[in-house]
Amino acid sequence: MQQEQDFIFNNAKINLPEQGSFTFKTPSNIALVKYWGKKEPQLPENPSISFTLDACFTLTTLEYKKKDKDGLNFEIYFEGKKKDDFKPKIATFLKRIQKYVPFVSEYNLIINSRNSFPHSSGIASSASGMAALALCIMSIEKEINPKMSSEYFNKKASFLARLGSGSASRSIEGPLVIWGKHKDLDKSSDLFGIKFPGPVHEVFNNYHDTILLVDEGEKQVSSTVGHNLMDNHPFAEKRFEQANENLSKISTALKNGDMKIFINIIESEALTLHAMMMTSNPYFILMKPNTLEIINKIWQFRNKTNANICFTLDAGANVHVLYPEKEKEAINNFIISELIKYCQNKNYINDRTGFGAKQI
Ligand code: PMV
Repeated sequence: MQQEQDFIFNNAKINLPEQGSFTFKTPSNIALVKYWGKKEPQLPENPSISFTLDACFTLTTLEYKKKDKDGLNFEIYFEGKKKDDFKPKIATFLKRIQKYVPFVSEYNLIINSRNSFPHSSGIASSASGMAALALCIMSIEKEINPKMSSEYFNKKASFLARLGSGSASRSIEGPLVIWGKHKDLDKSSDLFGIKFPGPVHEVFNNYHDTILLVDEGEKQVSSTVGHNLMDNHPFAEKRFEQANENLSKISTALKNGDMKIFINIIESEALTLHAMMMTSNPYFILMKPNTLEIINKIWQFRNKTNANICFTLDAGANVHVLYPEKEKEAINNFIISELIKYCQNKNYINDRTGFGAKQI
């Protein structure tokens, strides 16, 4: 069992490389059982599971060059332009991880990043962005310590990414990642994500996620504010229990291909996440009228055709439409003819499950 101390690297007596650069392409992910509610230091109140995506990714290059004075120093460029307004978030992240990767303060760091999806699409880029940065930093550690196993590399990358954004811990590997301790899963941990253990039914291979961009604006509630709303939430304890039960049930469905249970849990999790926001204080409604239009259309279509289509939501108005590879033609036709009209500027992204981050 890995402890927090296992991730502390001591570079005191080591000759550090002078300079270099690493590039990673790191996907976003969509939670099936949601993480909502956390405790210090960025530990989840309940375990979660997500599909790693493929088309929605962040591409990050980290250049590092040794400097004389110790202390954090970095620049961030986004889509080629210097982005000083991203600095505070990155600075907090680097400060948090410094204990585990102390060499970061011995370098001038230049971060160059871009997303495959529009920045203001309402798709959270913190998961893919933080995971990409964590992987670049771990690559420096691997250069210092080439004997490191790939298992440790991924675990620690997930551990570091988590300290930037909880869900980022689930963006290192794929196609299914669990983050958070669960009683039935020995290897699960609050500290990092692990790949879903055991075989997954073939119906979930190459699973599709069409993301309907209902509202492309900035997030109405930041996830930090959202998680904190669970601190004194009247239904919090029951919700955390439910997430644990749902993770057990969905694990079984993922193994035996029980679509009814899979769909039921996914939709219930999405609506519960939003119910938690509606019943917190202050309270929020993050769905838009078109979110509900889409949900109702999906339900009507499913009742009529028995298609294995379902939806999930993030902490926003966009709808992720999930469906198996085998049914993609009929469901794609339905999406294009019936759902696209509810998207802002008819924008949507065809995504699917992927296998995690790649070094470029
Ligand atoms: O990683 P954060 O702190 O942005 O939180 C993500 C929370 C949800 O996206 C709503 C749910 C999840 O598990 O990804």
